[in-house]
Amino acid sequence: MNYLIINGSPRRANTWKIVERIKETLDKQEENTYDEIDLIDLDLPQCTACYNCFNYGEDKCPHKDKIAPIVEKMKECDGLIITSPVYVLNVTGLIKTFFDHLAYCYHRPCFFNKKALIVVTTAGNGHKKVASYMDENLRNMGYNQRFVLSFIHAHDGHGYLPLKTKEKTDKVTLNFYNSVKSGKLKSPSMKALFMYNIWRAMAAGNTIEIDAKYWRENNLIDSEFHPDIPCNIIKKLPFKIFYKIMLKFISKNSIQKDENQ
Ligand SMILES: Cc1cc2nc3c(=O)[nH]c(=O)nc-3n(C[C@H](O)[C@H](O)[C@H](O)COP(=O)(O)O)c2cc1C
Repeated sequence: MNYLIINGSPRRANTWKIVERIKETLDKQEENTYDEIDLIDLDLPQCTACYNCFNYGEDKCPHKDKIAPIVEKMKECDGLIITSPVYVLNVTGLIKTFFDHLAYCYHRPCFFNKKALIVVTTAGNGHKKVASYMDENLRNMGYNQRFVLSFIHAHDGHGYLPLKTKEKTDKVTLNFYNSVKSGKLKSPSMKALFMYNIWRAMAAGNTIEIDAKYWRENNLIDSEFHPDIPCNIIKKLPFKIFYKIMLKFISKNSIQKDENQ
């Protein structure tokens, strides 16, 4: 298997200890390759809010030379491992800046057949909130399944992982591995269906031309969720109605905008 590791910590310390344990566990299952990106080495500038990615395409981002190769790796890898320590009750600036550059993936989600393992460590608090934020973000980009490891004090102060931390890491890593290995795609959650149909309606409402083209060309516009992901008809039914309401709302508002111009 080929894993991509995106390290959102500026160093390889507490959070990285968990990553090392994950790699050990994965390597016990089979031979793997790891592509490791320390975001600190990327010198990624802040998003400048030029809106090029939203309006004209991600290839028009002024920082595309740094971002596009990572997105390509995210698409190619079998599994993503992404980390952040808690900084002032939030993700690190490195992770936030990285996610800002991927905001266009909310408009044009593309990771529907991908799985991710999120790793968060903290000295005392904020880990659940940060893990939940990262999970939500990846879900909105399309990630089919996200697994979470979040720990207070990942190690015992001497660099050793406590037994409980090891056990939880191994258990979640195995679940992640089994999911990646099987290639099975999970039925979307209600939240995933909700977000999908908001963006679908926006694309169909033609608010942004490039989004409409993307949703049409990738065959996403005609169903309540990505056609390759299993989802039963009953679960989809409320979103058929929700989509229609959203589309009406968006169309109505864009007509009003024209009238006011
Ligand atoms: C700038 C900064 C802000 C931090 N903010 C918090 C915080 O709000 N809550 C907390 O419990 N720990 C906080 N910490 C501690 C780290 O989350 C914790 O030590 C983490 O395990 C560090 O991971 P790392 O060794 O991979 O960088 C902060 C650390 C730094 C450097």
